[in-house]
Amino acid sequence: MSEGAAKKEEKPRKFQAIRGTRDLLPPETALWNRVEQTAHEVFATFGFGEIRPPIFEPTDLFARAVGGETDIVSKEMYTFSNPTGLAAMVHESRTEGMLSDMLLSEAEMISLRPEATASVCRAYIEHSMQQLPQPVKLYYMGPMFRRERPQKGRYRQFYQIGAEVLGGSDAPAIDAEVIEMVMTFFNRLGLEGVQLHINSIGDKNCRPRYVELLREELRKVKDKLGPDSQRRIDTNPLRVLDSKLESEQETIEKLPRITQHLCDSCRDNYDEVKRQLAIRGIIYSQNFRLVRGLDYYMRTTFEITAKGLGSQNAVCGGGRYDGLVELLGGSPTKGIGFAIGEDRLILSLQESGKAPVAEGPEVYIAWMGENAQATAIRAAKDLRKAGFSVELPPVEQKFGKALGQADKLGAKYALILGDNEVSEGLWTLKTLADGSQAKFTEPGLLGHLRKSKAVSS
Ligand code: HAM
Repeated sequence: MSEGAAKKEEKPRKFQAIRGTRDLLPPETALWNRVEQTAHEVFATFGFGEIRPPIFEPTDLFARAVGGETDIVSKEMYTFSNPTGLAAMVHESRTEGMLSDMLLSEAEMISLRPEATASVCRAYIEHSMQQLPQPVKLYYMGPMFRRERPQKGRYRQFYQIGAEVLGGSDAPAIDAEVIEMVMTFFNRLGLEGVQLHINSIGDKNCRPRYVELLREELRKVKDKLGPDSQRRIDTNPLRVLDSKLESEQETIEKLPRITQHLCDSCRDNYDEVKRQLAIRGIIYSQNFRLVRGLDYYMRTTFEITAKGLGSQNAVCGGGRYDGLVELLGGSPTKGIGFAIGEDRLILSLQESGKAPVAEGPEVYIAWMGENAQATAIRAAKDLRKAGFSVELPPVEQKFGKALGQADKLGAKYALILGDNEVSEGLWTLKTLADGSQAKFTEPGLLGHLRKSKAVSS
């Protein structure tokens, strides 16, 4: 039996997008494009250039950067071997030292990126960007992957728009300017109900002491906590502060707060970040529970919430991560950045009525007759060149049917081209909203359409 015949016998199967992933469709994609275009424009005014890192990286990059104990790395990554099977083989022979380093790196486990800060730091080191004028300011946008439980505003393939400032000083003005950039972007988009929450989680001098203190206090109230938080007392007590479990809230509010246990330099730094925000007229609230779910942070952390998002209301998260580049084999380098959840940003814009509505073509060309087709093709070409969206039916239709179609598509105008119009050189333009009609010469028509577009925009 030929391959073709075998195929024919297969039962048809309908496919659906995998759980937690979705198709973005028009007209919504117009909003995505507007958001992304605005990001390109606003970020450029702050001196950021775009980086496009790959979508998969060695698993170990994320394990080191984000942290092996974090939910993201321990539970949520899409990890596979590259190529299939070789990783296990290499793993076995690694101890015997049989394979070259190159083959080893080829065979490493790889993961779809759950975030992009690790990739940007890897690229900074790989391309010796510390030799460029510092700091290096980069932004990115694209899909990220986390195997979380899907719900409103939470997907397994989601999109981030993020930015990182690497190298140079750790002046608090940089923290404040990065936040100012996000706020400017949100403001430009008309995002509503924007609230900035900030915190300082100290550094390697003061945080370990605080974590110990927190652990001791948590042990005392252990029986008031749920199983997740009980487990975290040992693994990562800071994350208990993050808990949304209703029954734990009262207990958590009474726990010692990191801002009261910062060392002098972290406290001064935090005070200066707040002063820098105030100079910029940025309103914030302090939230001692803002510890973030990734291990690389130190000192400044922040999150931004917006309207209409339900429980998944963080539309942006970020913070400072001095030391991450060093952890990934680079020289000591300061770093701070953020990532915006683009899906949530879009959702919030839609909820507040900022979504574009589906738009029909500006001009529908109703043509009939062989001569008319050639003229219609030329008219479509000229109108499109002038920036108008044009629908040109591929086959001849009676005018009544064509006008019905133009209406259905929501076209603004119908250009009527029959043999008479063509031979007279006078074209009929019908405004579909009010049914009015007028005749124009070819150049006259273009001028008229241009003028009415300028008035309406
Ligand atoms: P993150 O807080 O894990 O930080 O993610 C940033 C934002 O991505 C969140 O505030 C949220 O809006 C969005 N997000 C995260 N997971 C999902 C999901 N499953 N579905 C939809 N949206 C989601 C980071 O990723 C850090 N790399 C941010 C950063 C950059 N810190 C410094 N530089």
